[in-house]
Amino acid sequence: MCGIIGIASNKPVSINIINSLKKLEYRGYDSAGIATLANNLINEKKCSGRVKELEKILFKTPSDGIVGIGHVRWATHGIPNTINAHPHSSDDVSVVHNGIIENSDELKEQLESKGFRFKSETDTEVITLLVTEYLKQFEPLESVFKTLKKLKGSFALGIIFKNYSDIIIGARRGSPLAVGYSNQENYLGSDSYALKSMTNKISYLDDGELCILSKNNVDFFDLNLKKINKKIHTVSDEENTSNKGDYKNFMYKEIFEQSSTAKKCINEYIDSLKKDINIYNFPFDPNKINKIILIGCGTAFHSCLVAKYWFEELTSIDVEIDIASEFRYRTLKFNSKNLYIFVSQSGETADTAAALEICRENKMKTCSVVNVVESTIARNSDWVLPIHAGPEIGVASTKAFLGQLLVLYILCLKLSSIRKDILKKDYDKNIETLKKLPEAIKKTLKSESDIQLMAQEFLKARGSMFLGRGISFPIALEGALKLKELSYLHAEGYPAGEMKHGPLALIEEGLPVIVIAPKDKYFEKTLSNTQEVIARGGKIFFITDIKKRLMSTNIRFRLRVPFLDNLLSPILFTIPLQLLAYHVALLKNCDIDKPRNLAKSVTVE
Ligand code: M6R
Repeated sequence: MCGIIGIASNKPVSINIINSLKKLEYRGYDSAGIATLANNLINEKKCSGRVKELEKILFKTPSDGIVGIGHVRWATHGIPNTINAHPHSSDDVSVVHNGIIENSDELKEQLESKGFRFKSETDTEVITLLVTEYLKQFEPLESVFKTLKKLKGSFALGIIFKNYSDIIIGARRGSPLAVGYSNQENYLGSDSYALKSMTNKISYLDDGELCILSKNNVDFFDLNLKKINKKIHTVSDEENTSNKGDYKNFMYKEIFEQSSTAKKCINEYIDSLKKDINIYNFPFDPNKINKIILIGCGTAFHSCLVAKYWFEELTSIDVEIDIASEFRYRTLKFNSKNLYIFVSQSGETADTAAALEICRENKMKTCSVVNVVESTIARNSDWVLPIHAGPEIGVASTKAFLGQLLVLYILCLKLSSIRKDILKKDYDKNIETLKKLPEAIKKTLKSESDIQLMAQEFLKARGSMFLGRGISFPIALEGALKLKELSYLHAEGYPAGEMKHGPLALIEEGLPVIVIAPKDKYFEKTLSNTQEVIARGGKIFFITDIKKRLMSTNIRFRLRVPFLDNLLSPILFTIPLQLLAYHVALLKNCDIDKPRNLAKSVTVE
């Protein structure tokens, strides 16, 4: 997490640094800071809280300087306060850092024994002091290089130097870092998104690489400090998402964009003329895949879990799913007939990127399902299937989840057709049904006023449960994740059939229990599980797609979503749960787009 920006220019940089930091806040928002070089001094300003607080400070006391760095923080070492905010500066050097220095305690001890004093509780300050020490003997690039050799862990760094006032040095190990180019101005940034308002010409540092940039020049070096050339990418012009329009916040906008997100994604992948899925560029033979392993974190993991049900239902391929932070440390049996699919909105999630790296090292076939096509995960995988959702700004993932589900479903259909696991008539029918999805999403979104009423009932709750069976179980997990993430209310997602093996003990009078009950092969069983909860006092919110009224009068709320097809029910049933989490959080006055303690892009493990 954490966002880095650096600008070397021929004009003052502080305003552009602040503007970029605002864009980077999705990576961390517990404190912010800036350092510029002016009048032969490092001019550092920082604060706890949001970038707008930093902006106020700069408004009162502006920072001059045509070279500078900025940072938004998601705390790892040390509480989020002004002292621990980045940059961390000595008299000679100022550093912004994304990542974790694992041997910082050891390095701190060594530096303290040499008389250095630390101001903060962060791991980053060791970098500042090591570079400061090396600068007594070496030029900046060599000083940074020697410092990097001492560091264990992951980092993206931006460093400026009091006595070399025209340069910024960047370095990357593990955490992403990009360089942007413009006329008389060059940039360093955590990602292309932060730089997009200034340039669309971007290079990406690979692991172990360094760069040194000034307003007119950028040089890159490999991990042996040998000069290298880097490819310049022209990044796509995404729709302007920094504008919420009439929406109260980004999450709300993103929930309501889902019908057009689905339409766009379907148009990208479905060839309406040929009535076929236009995925042709398989870098492997689909008939020779024995097993698919789907890997992701958080919401992206939930889309893997839904996809497992689809692959099992529609293909003859064996499927496994894994949480990236678990996968990367397991003792794994690799097989050349496996296909590893990495699912990630940002494409920068550290655990997912590390899991991908392990597969690459073992020469496995890799595919990524990502939103950000210029991301690390996309660039490092053999094959990329973009979800075409457009930038997602709200920390809680909504339209990207929908996009991930759609692409995984489409891939599953295509593989099953190539492998002849599905009858042609069923394949055609599934494609036709899929085309009706955007309209069904629109209809589902119309249930908002009912959901607002439901949300009132969660205000006094001490906790909540989300239940589903089969393909609705991952949606129960996703509904619970959304609610806890946004409203800070404890929520547990459970397979309804597991309740009597323990969690039923949690049910008490009035506990809200959301039951996800599409009319599929589990429906009657889910209904029985619902009765067991009612019998123990649970307050039931029953979400279904059947038209018939239910006999039980003890259901507090019944919400109906449109019926399309059992396979697509996870997509439609997710929408009321997103809206529920949103409205509970709104009633509780929570920060919807930036929930406490979180960040949009989780670039530390
Ligand atoms: O960018 P990614 O899709 O890799 O992110 C994975 C998770 O961090 C993310 O889905 C997280 O769980 C969301 N905040 C949930 O809404």
